[in-house]
Amino acid sequence: MKILVAFYSRSGNTKRAAGIIAKTLGAEMDEIIDKKNRRGILGFLRAGYDATRGKTTEIEFHKDPSGYDLVVIGTPTWNGRVTPAVRTYLLKNREKIGRAAFFTTCAGRSRRCLAQMREILGKEPMKEGIFYVKSLERDAREFAEGLKKLVG
Ligand SMILES: Cc1cc2nc3c(=O)[nH]c(=O)nc-3n(C[C@H](O)[C@H](O)[C@H](O)COP(=O)(O)O)c2cc1C
Repeated sequence: MKILVAFYSRSGNTKRAAGIIAKTLGAEMDEIIDKKNRRGILGFLRAGYDATRGKTTEIEFHKDPSGYDLVVIGTPTWNGRVTPAVRTYLLKNREKIGRAAFFTTCAGRSRRCLAQMREILGKEPMKEGIFYVKSLERDAREFAEGLKKLVG
């Protein structure tokens, strides 16, 4: 089974989780790049605002998700919501993603991030996970092992 782990990460947590999942599943990785500057205090404030408003953004990614049997998609939670980069990725690739699984990393409260991802993709994922910064590695490993059992 060909598996892709596509993710956006501003400060490295989601990238770290994606790496653990990819290694456990023997999957390829694709980092989604947000072309908008999210650095500094202004970038931080704009990030939260854009996520809250459900904004899309200009993104770059390199792998075609239609070439995979399963696409695992990861995003940080911003203001309880999905990031603009992953919102855009899901909208652009809605037709190209067959089976999907979602995860989000957050400091403590994810609220509606995963529900938004489900809504945007328009289908139920095989598995969903919320990983907390404090237990990120363990949460990611458990998620990946659970998913591995599901895909056989
Ligand atoms: C703009 C912004 C908003 C955030 N909002 C939330 C939030 O609502 N709930 C939460 O638990 N963590 C929140 N966080 C923390 C991140 O979700 C968490 O640190 C995440 O692991 C960052 O992922 P990254 O390192 O891959 O960018 C927020 C972070 C940023 C930058």
